[in-house]
Amino acid sequence: MSESPAQSPVGLVLLPDQIARRVSELAADITRDYAGRSPLLVGVLKGSVLFLADLVRQIDLDVRVDFISISSYGEGGRSGVVRILKDLSSSIEGDDVVLVEDIIDTGLTVTYLLATLRARQPRSLEVCALLDKSVRRIIEVPIRYKGFDIPDEFVVGYGLDYQSRFRNLRSIVGVRDLEVLAVDPDSVLAPYTG
Ligand code: IMP
Ligand code: MG
Repeated sequence: MSESPAQSPVGLVLLPDQIARRVSELAADITRDYAGRSPLLVGVLKGSVLFLADLVRQIDLDVRVDFISISSYGEGGRSGVVRILKDLSSSIEGDDVVLVEDIIDTGLTVTYLLATLRARQPRSLEVCALLDKSVRRIIEVPIRYKGFDIPDEFVVGYGLDYQSRFRNLRSIVGVRDLEVLAVDPDSVLAPYTG
């Protein structure tokens, strides 16, 4: 097959300022929608940690935070079957819960999480996702608070990882060649580190 050597190894880039501006807007939306209430933000470990930390600092409400950690079964996590590795630390019955995700891809993971959390009878349950790779969606997901729609590229940074690395990048970077990322990440990511 023919190759296109001129193609940049990097696709989408979201710079720290862009991310910060959008996170502020999402926080303002949540502050307005939950006025007079005390929502519980549930972060899905580990990818959502940076996003949640920035988001929660700008929500002007009596907000609480908890975390859930999961692992996906099946090839590349594509089965949609999820195992809870670390559960929430308390009951969510009667709570206004906002599930905070880094990225919604096929939608299988968040669908499973929503079903699991809904069964515990929160008063309300909404999704806040920084990134939406909507072209890859297999199952429809109601995303109440969405940061950015992104193309079908593998992204790292701002909490998102490739093989547990690159979560600490301050930008979000779409990488077209994952092999390069594994072997020589500096050649791709150097402009975005530090
Ligand atoms: P889903 O079940 O296909 O929606 O998968 C969602 C999960 O896959 C996310 O929470 C991420 O952990 C991971 N994921 C999906 N796309 C990416 C990506 O581009 N970069 C890093 N992780 C991703
Ligand atoms: Mg994740």
